[in-house]
Parts: sequence; structure tokens; C-alpha cells
Amino acid sequence: MKVAIGSDHAGFHLKKEIIVMLEYKGYEVLDCGCFSPDSVDYPDIAEAVAEEVLKDQCPGIVICGTGIGISMAANKIPGIRAALCGEPFSARMAREHNDANILAMGARIIGTGLAIEVVKAFLDTSFAGERHQLRVDKIREIERKHTR
Ligand code: RB5
Repeated sequence: MKVAIGSDHAGFHLKKEIIVMLEYKGYEVLDCGCFSPDSVDYPDIAEAVAEEVLKDQCPGIVICGTGIGISMAANKIPGIRAALCGEPFSARMAREHNDANILAMGARIIGTGLAIEVVKAFLDTSFAGERHQLRVDKIREIERKHTR
């Protein structure tokens, strides 16, 4: 399975650790940057990951210092449901109930070990559908109503 991933400078080192784990587990990783610890703007990375997620219909991972800015930016793109998660339960629920297609994390909040567990929980969980589908459809309807 393909996974698109991206971070700003604050998430650069955590992103590298996550890529090692993903490749070890056999995922095809599409690294959307950044490619050095030099300062970049998280909205650019959020947009690059979101475009890959929509194009390839694959899950995405975005990381910035807190995970807040990069998730806000990703959620501006129609069709993206980015969930900021700091522990595995939220990551599982984000997939099972909300059909999140992007996981956001804060590298200045979460340690590497916990982040890896969060990623595994996110990627190993499927959307449950049924009553949750109606609610996700309502999110899309709000998006459609408010997109000019
Ligand atoms: C960059 O210093 C920082 O603002 C960014 O990584 C992120 O935390 C924003 O939400």
C-alpha cells in the first residue's frame, strides 16, 4: 500500500523515523518533503500531501510542530479529512468513525515511539461505514455548500 507523508522543519526528524518504519513494513512511501531541517511553511507541505492522497486515494501523514497548522491547512482541501491524533485510540477512531484520510501529528508534542504506534493504529484500521457513512456524507455536504 502507498502512503504519502510530509512535514515541515519541526517534523523533519520524526518523519524520517516514520518512513524507516513504514518501509520496513513494506509500504510504498511517497515523501512530499521537506527534505532538510531548513525552515519551510507547513501549508505548502499539507497541500502537497493532500494532492497525493486525492490523486492516489491513499492515506497520508502530515507532521508539524504541534500538528495544528498542518492539519488546518490540509482540511481546507475539498475531500480531505485530516485528524490530529496524539495517541492510538484517537487514530483508530479517526479511521473507523470519521474515515480520515490524513493523520496529523505534532513532533514537538509526541515522542517517536508513541508516534509510531499512532501511525500503525491509523493504517491498520478501516472505516466502519453504516451510521458513520451518513455523518461523513454530511461533512462532504457542508464542504460542498461552502465551496465556491
Ligand atoms: C513552526 O515553528 C511551527 O509553527 C509549526 O511547525 C506548527 O507547529 C504550526 O502549527
